Amino acid sequence: MTPKHFLDLASQTPADLRAILDEAHRLKAGGGRPRPRSAVLAGCTLAMLFERPSTRTRFSFDVAMKELGGDTIVASGAEMQLGRGETLADTAQVLSRYVDVVMIRMLDHDGLVGFAEHAAVPVINGLTRRCHPCQIIADLMTVEERLGPLAGRTIAWVGDGNNVAATFLDAARHLGFSLRIATPSALALPADAVAEARAAGADVSVGEDAHQAVAGADVVVADAWASMGDEDEDRRRTLLAPFQVNDALMARAAPGAIFLHCLPAHRNEEVTDSVMDGPQSAVFDEAENRLHAQKAILKHVLGKLGE
Ligand code: CP
Repeated sequence: MTPKHFLDLASQTPADLRAILDEAHRLKAGGGRPRPRSAVLAGCTLAMLFERPSTRTRFSFDVAMKELGGDTIVASGAEMQLGRGETLADTAQVLSRYVDVVMIRMLDHDGLVGFAEHAAVPVINGLTRRCHPCQIIADLMTVEERLGPLAGRTIAWVGDGNNVAATFLDAARHLGFSLRIATPSALALPADAVAEARAAGADVSVGEDAHQAVAGADVVVADAWASMGDEDEDRRRTLLAPFQVNDALMARAAPGAIFLHCLPAHRNEEVTDSVMDGPQSAVFDEAENRLHAQKAILKHVLGKLGE
């Protein structure tokens, strides 16, 4: 049987995304401090492979798996024989003999897909250059807990047309919110990706004017001006300076609008301290929600939702 991978949001069904979000909310509602533990994934082991640094993804998956009763193993590619040329395909087949689920952070999305094709256990995308699906589950969960249902809400993405922006585009196909994307033309999302999302049902507008994108929006989202793997930081700073999220930009959003950032933030570059630490910021709830979202994603791929 083909494992239930979680590689991107475009290929998920709306029903599965809804079930994952509902489970994440349910798990969060059930947990004060100390959070209740369950044994739903007892006997299961999660392998986490990181080719790139991580704070949130690494810690939230580790804590999530343990609070669900499972175990974890973490390694970087350099620590493994991958760093000495063993193929992803062979690695996938070997790890499938040891563990029950694999989470990988690697820039090469095709490499991740190839790994998943050779894995006999579910594979979760912990960020590639193409997309960051776990992040957007946590983001949309945060929007719902702050503002209620997603349908009819407007989310404004301001800055680089990067992998996180592309994942909002994937989600917009399925979840009924409007997406406005403002980027410099040189850093825009690929036109064919936007066209494909529209054809699949996404309500999305793209442009180069941050003020226009944010006007009346319910959610304003920013990200680092240079993502992992980007080497043209000076050029990006110049291009992206007009896209800084500051008090003046937030004032154009709807009353009660929230600010999201997947973190790590580069304070006073893509977002000012006043917005990051201000009353509209939901960034630390968003970071916490990575934990609840990871639990729901793990339960989804392992066929344990609702248990
Ligand atoms: N947002 C995010 O993925 O954070 P980390 O890079 O710290 O995992």
